[in-house]
Amino acid sequence: MTDTLTIRRPDDWHLHLRDGAVLQAVLPETARHFARAIVMPNLVPPVVTGAEAAAYRDRIRAALPAGMAFEPLMTLYLTEETDPADVAAAYAGGLVKAVKLYPAGATTNSASGVRDFDRVRAVLERMADIALPLCVHGEVTDPEIDIFDREAVFIETVLDPIRRATPGLRVVMEHITTRDGIDYVASQGDDMGGTITTHHLVINRNHILVGGIRPHYYCLPVAKREEHRLALRKAATGGDPHFFLGTDSAPHLDALKEHACGCAGCFTATNTMSVLAEVFEQDDALDRLEGFVSLHGPAFYGLPPNDGTITLSKGAPVTYPAKIATADGPVTVFDPGFPLHWQVSQ
Ligand code: NCD
Ligand code: ZN
Repeated sequence: MTDTLTIRRPDDWHLHLRDGAVLQAVLPETARHFARAIVMPNLVPPVVTGAEAAAYRDRIRAALPAGMAFEPLMTLYLTEETDPADVAAAYAGGLVKAVKLYPAGATTNSASGVRDFDRVRAVLERMADIALPLCVHGEVTDPEIDIFDREAVFIETVLDPIRRATPGLRVVMEHITTRDGIDYVASQGDDMGGTITTHHLVINRNHILVGGIRPHYYCLPVAKREEHRLALRKAATGGDPHFFLGTDSAPHLDALKEHACGCAGCFTATNTMSVLAEVFEQDDALDRLEGFVSLHGPAFYGLPPNDGTITLSKGAPVTYPAKIATADGPVTVFDPGFPLHWQVSQ
């Protein structure tokens, strides 16, 4: 029986670090295990220009505790006013690794997102020319569309049309939650990738709603039926290089989660590697963990995998703090609901 596993140091291809006191508290939780992360730009106000991304990168670097190494891979928030030249310059200078598309109103802090896709056509064409990836939050926001159908409808009405209209554009469908998303991404070429979160491999919609409403399992896209979770598990543990880890670890203060109108987001940075090792072991796929967390993502982004390694060890159940403290209040750590036996030992 395998009880240690050494893999290349992983990266997180979709992460929310926030700013200020929350940034200070959550950054070490990711930097402890991950070398790099694609950092989401949905601050208030959002990170739209190259100059704003540079300033945010500097705040992240300043928040990193001494002795820790971590490289933030910055993103720009696509708006209908985004200037193609600014995007291209931020990419050429090495600052920015992706542009993020939020359909307006889809999720936390997405009010400045895109309403009319024709208005971002020039930016998308420039991105295709220079091979700068577009990360998409794949949900439509039409109030008539049921929240559980919003991802599937997005594929048909937005994602596929954008890709057809912009040949060569590299696109990541982020935080896939449905079999429809998995099937679409898996059927495309190597200009299409998909991220899967830790929590969507573990929870289905019952976790949110059965026996009382559980705000710490509420995130967007919302977890779907069990059959969809199983499709995600198969994709993540199956070795297909289209799929890689993007935790979407999204800290919100407990006071804002446990609320009449609770914020969307699961905070998984602290225990993600333990949860994933458990999941991959349950599916007899520990030998594929490294591909999912450390190899497929860099290959999609055209970056080298990390030189360093981490070692996971299996033993008696490990415990993590239920919450981490920030100067603004506590943030609850994702509870997978089963014991965790693997921990990063070095
Ligand atoms: C994210 C957040 O809180 O910023 N929330 C979430 O539920 N995932 C936004 C997002 O990625 O949709
Ligand atoms: Zn996110």
